[in-house]
Amino acid sequence: MNRKDARKALVTGAAGFIGSHLVDELLARGWPVTGLDRRSPERDAVAARNLAPALASPAFAFRHADVDDARLTDLLDGVDVVFHLAAATGVRGSWGKAFLSYIHDNIAATHRLIEACEQARIPRLVVASSSSVYGGTTSRASREDDAVLPLSPYGVSKMATEQLALAYAARPDAATKTVALRFFTVYGPRQRDDMAISRMLDAVRTGQPMRLYGDGWQRRNFTYVGDVVPAIMQAAHTEQTGRAVNVAGPLTVSMRDLLDMVKEVTGSLVPYVEVASRSGDPQATEADPGLADAVLGYRPLVGLREGIARQWEWTQATGSVLAGGVA
Ligand SMILES: NC(=O)c1ccc[n+]([C@@H]2O[C@H](COP(=O)([O-])OP(=O)(O)OC[C@H]3O[C@@H](n4cnc5c(N)ncnc54)[C@H](O)[C@@H]3O)[C@@H](O)[C@H]2O)c1
Repeated sequence: MNRKDARKALVTGAAGFIGSHLVDELLARGWPVTGLDRRSPERDAVAARNLAPALASPAFAFRHADVDDARLTDLLDGVDVVFHLAAATGVRGSWGKAFLSYIHDNIAATHRLIEACEQARIPRLVVASSSSVYGGTTSRASREDDAVLPLSPYGVSKMATEQLALAYAARPDAATKTVALRFFTVYGPRQRDDMAISRMLDAVRTGQPMRLYGDGWQRRNFTYVGDVVPAIMQAAHTEQTGRAVNVAGPLTVSMRDLLDMVKEVTGSLVPYVEVASRSGDPQATEADPGLADAVLGYRPLVGLREGIARQWEWTQATGSVLAGGVA
């Protein structure tokens, strides 16, 4: 993809971890971008940090709004591609009454956006889905034609996000071609503070122990954010739409392996306390990479050790913007 492919984009969840990296790359490739998020860089330190490079670009416009009540007709005017990354995230927080916010963000607001895309006849919609739709990986790596059996309310809501978008796209008169991307545990600079690598690096930086959930042998397929962004951009161009595609890194490791890798990278033991496992956490996630290669030409380039080293460098340079960090 090069500059002559540049088109106008709307990115929802632009102030978030993955959304802000996508915005930076779209701008670097000459796309005019509108970023929508309900976190405002004027009031939210994480949003301000994540959007600082984008806000310096004249090709970037930020809209502070909720997808569920934003003026979508105006925002979609002249847009070629909508990248929908806004979501309520996190497995642990999705149980109980909190699920209402997941219904709002991941189902109702997503539905409103899909309807608006259809009405505005937006040519392409790329939707963020999640490995959590599978539930967990058992005997072999998860393939897109496997049954979806989410283990948490979050997984159920992401299943609804992607299936809603794909159901609209499957209608014979659909104007919007759609691709859903199932991300597997994304990490790298700006990673959310509730995620494992972020918590490990913060524990090393501050000396405050992190929580290690369960026996520590749960395995995750870690994906560097710099590999995820080109996959998202390729989903804006692929001819093979109307499907969900895994986006995953090259390695699946246990939390205990990860603690060893973080020690090698930082030179320090990660302080931690063991706590009971969280309901909804699968024992393992691992992606079959075949369809991503076929549909997106996707091959992850950044190895886990290299990616952790880049995130550690960033963590040391920026520290935590949240008072007290996370434990
Ligand atoms: N980070 C991962 O490992 C991972 C894995 C699988 C799937 N995903 C998916 O990727 C997407 C991005 O994840 P992330 O880690 O960058 O999360 P993030 O929390 O950093 O970013 C999400 C952003 O969306 C915004 N948002 C949420 N609901 C909104 C609404 N109704 N209106 C406007 N803005 C809203 C939030 O304010 C936030 O800035 C999400 O859809 C998530 O479910 C992420």
